[in-house]
Amino acid sequence: MDFDEIIDRRGTHCAKWDKMEPIYGVPADTGIAMWVADMDFRPPAVVQNALQGMLDHGVYGYFGDDSKYLAAIQWWMENRHGWKVDQDWIFTTHGLVNGTSMCVDAFTKPGDGVVLFTPVYHAFARVISAAGRKVVECELVNNKGRYTLDFDAYDAQMTGNETMLVFCSPHNPGGRVWTKDELAQVAAFAKRHDLVLVSDEIHHDLVFPGTKHTPMALIDDVQDRLVMMTATTKTFNIAGSHSGNVIIPDPALRATFAARMNAMGVSPNSFGLVMATAAYSPEGAAWVDELVAYLDDNRRIFDATVNSIPGLQSMPLESTYLAWVDFEGTGMDPSEFTKRVEQNAEIAANHGPTFGKGGETFMRFNIATPRARVEEACTRLREAFSDLQ
Ligand SMILES: Cc1ncc(COP(=O)(O)O)c(C=O)c1O
Repeated sequence: MDFDEIIDRRGTHCAKWDKMEPIYGVPADTGIAMWVADMDFRPPAVVQNALQGMLDHGVYGYFGDDSKYLAAIQWWMENRHGWKVDQDWIFTTHGLVNGTSMCVDAFTKPGDGVVLFTPVYHAFARVISAAGRKVVECELVNNKGRYTLDFDAYDAQMTGNETMLVFCSPHNPGGRVWTKDELAQVAAFAKRHDLVLVSDEIHHDLVFPGTKHTPMALIDDVQDRLVMMTATTKTFNIAGSHSGNVIIPDPALRATFAARMNAMGVSPNSFGLVMATAAYSPEGAAWVDELVAYLDDNRRIFDATVNSIPGLQSMPLESTYLAWVDFEGTGMDPSEFTKRVEQNAEIAANHGPTFGKGGETFMRFNIATPRARVEEACTRLREAFSDLQ
């Protein structure tokens, strides 16, 4: 796979490039889009061929017979993550933001508290608040540029009104792959406060060498409160196909979720399922290995530049292609460093405060783009902060 190929995505109804100017004021013709979490790469040939098969057939009716899709999920989870999944546990939602909102709807009531360890993926808070639930922000500890959890503080924050925890593993935006011990502590926290534990593991395939992701489902004493969420969409860059796997081992939780899915009329998108079935295969796995190696080099190049600019610090990523850069050391007001990134460097990057408490001095840069663009972004950032060097 040629990850170096520059593919012009402008004018293709593409959020990342076509919404860059309206949202960030970064010019479409000269700007670099490094915000929303999709990649500027085509998916593997096995996915393209499956889609081509649909186009060649040319009839786009309702999807039926999901046996191959369910078997593909089972194969992937067991072979890539050492986790045995029963087919009956699997639901398909229209992506994992939809999966999160379905969980909020199924397992909590209006007014309930839903706990997040912030800063964290911004859509969680958005759907929780939009559903009339209360976002309870438990702040991660920034321990010399690495996020850790402080359960004494979180225990003290609980009021008894909380009914759910949405946990991001691996962590977006900090890039942490949580250790087994940390996962066990998260599970114990959920048990102590009787919270349904929704574990969003959408980034679980994009883990860099030297680190190993553990599915929350492999932690003891958590199955009866656990909802696992995984997807092909980040891994294979097919987010527009909007499909996600919500996997629920516990029969009672499963029945509640199934009832809400029925009530909301959620049924699968045939394009998403055909692509996902193709992706979860040995060919797909080989492509992911190549991709991770490429992203690993991108993060090294990006971090080396960013960390060479006095006052800027990029968190070492163990997973994800989302570099989380702290500008605190510049002493600048956020409006100043944001202006330099957007107006001087002409880079669109996510604003830290949208990720919740703890994100105030950060910006998030998506480095899943051809190497030449990462290098160009580095040159521009060096230039935009040249007075600090
Ligand atoms: C943690 C996390 N969950 C969910 C999503 C989005 O999922 P979907 O496109 O399936 O709604 C993202 C996208 O960046 C994410 O980072």
